[in-house]
Amino acid sequence: MKTLILTADQTDQAAQIIKKGGLVAMPTETVYGLAADAFNGEAVASIFKAKGRPMDNPLIVHISSLDQIGSIVREFPEKARALAESFWPGPLTIILPKSDNIPIEVSAGLDTVAVRFPSHPVAKKLIAASCPLAAPSANLSGSPSPTTAAHVISDMNGRIDAIIDGGDCLVGVESTVITLACEPPRILRPGGITAEQIEKVIGHIEIDKAVTNPLEEGQQAASPGMKYKHYSPKAEVILLDGDDEAFEKYINETGDDRTAALCYNGQQDRLDCICLPIGEKGDYTAYAHNLFSSLREADEKGCTRVYAHCPETSGVGLAVYNRVIRAAGFKTVKL
Ligand code: TXA
Ligand code: MG
Repeated sequence: MKTLILTADQTDQAAQIIKKGGLVAMPTETVYGLAADAFNGEAVASIFKAKGRPMDNPLIVHISSLDQIGSIVREFPEKARALAESFWPGPLTIILPKSDNIPIEVSAGLDTVAVRFPSHPVAKKLIAASCPLAAPSANLSGSPSPTTAAHVISDMNGRIDAIIDGGDCLVGVESTVITLACEPPRILRPGGITAEQIEKVIGHIEIDKAVTNPLEEGQQAASPGMKYKHYSPKAEVILLDGDDEAFEKYINETGDDRTAALCYNGQQDRLDCICLPIGEKGDYTAYAHNLFSSLREADEKGCTRVYAHCPETSGVGLAVYNRVIRAAGFKTVKL
């Protein structure tokens, strides 16, 4: 299959592809998504094939107007309304009881559906010109999510109908996923909208244990995506938990010419390895923005090992921690 590369002003052409049951990768403010008509089960099934994604991992339905919500969910409770008012359009996904219109391929057999109203102008235009779109991240299953069109091309060229090049994604990690299908509401995946921000709007919420911990044997994942190996480059990723000096010393003692470090700005001079700066120390928005692209860059440079700073687990730091700890397969060295 030849994959068309479209510009941001060719959303009408992309909408035609969607309406015919095709697959289009679109930019969003979080990461690129691989979109199909959310009401077309066959088109949605082809997303799983293109990504190599297990069929039991449900997809998010993307909308461009609150009017569309009635065809997707059975209920839109007060807390959902409050969250939508505060954070939509934006990087928050809300899980609610699903309507019968949603094909089984989207919900992977669950009685719920995940809904998100992205803020990216290209995503909004594409949805408005076609229909609500089921879209996972546009990477091959297991690899880091794509934050540029080049990342999507590298994973998906020849496997999908088109890619809209909308430049760099702002947030860099996927949306926050919260389920309102239980009480108290629970964050299943942290993202750009933080737990602290959400609690200010709807009060007490829980954070699923799987956000920071590996699933124990036999334990069921609240979010099926949590049980799969995720976000991994080919290189081995190891988190280092300690101060900057210990970080530099450990890498300089154990690294070789195929070792990379996701370091803070300014650490390059003190590190004897391939440096991939991820921003100022403590700036987790920058760490989130650069994480996936840096992991991909490490692979492009032929690195076999990537060391990363262990993030704090508050604010956007929790989203970074959740991704990088999975990329590392939970390997952390306490310095
Ligand atoms: O920012 C994002 O959310 C991006 C962009 C493209 O919108 N999308 C994205 O989709 O990250 P995906 O498929 O890579 O991740 C969706 C996550 C998975 O972990 C999945 O298991 C979970 O959401 N999920 C989806 N529907 C669910 C449901 N009904 N119940 C529980 N978890 C669900
Ligand atoms: Mg994904």
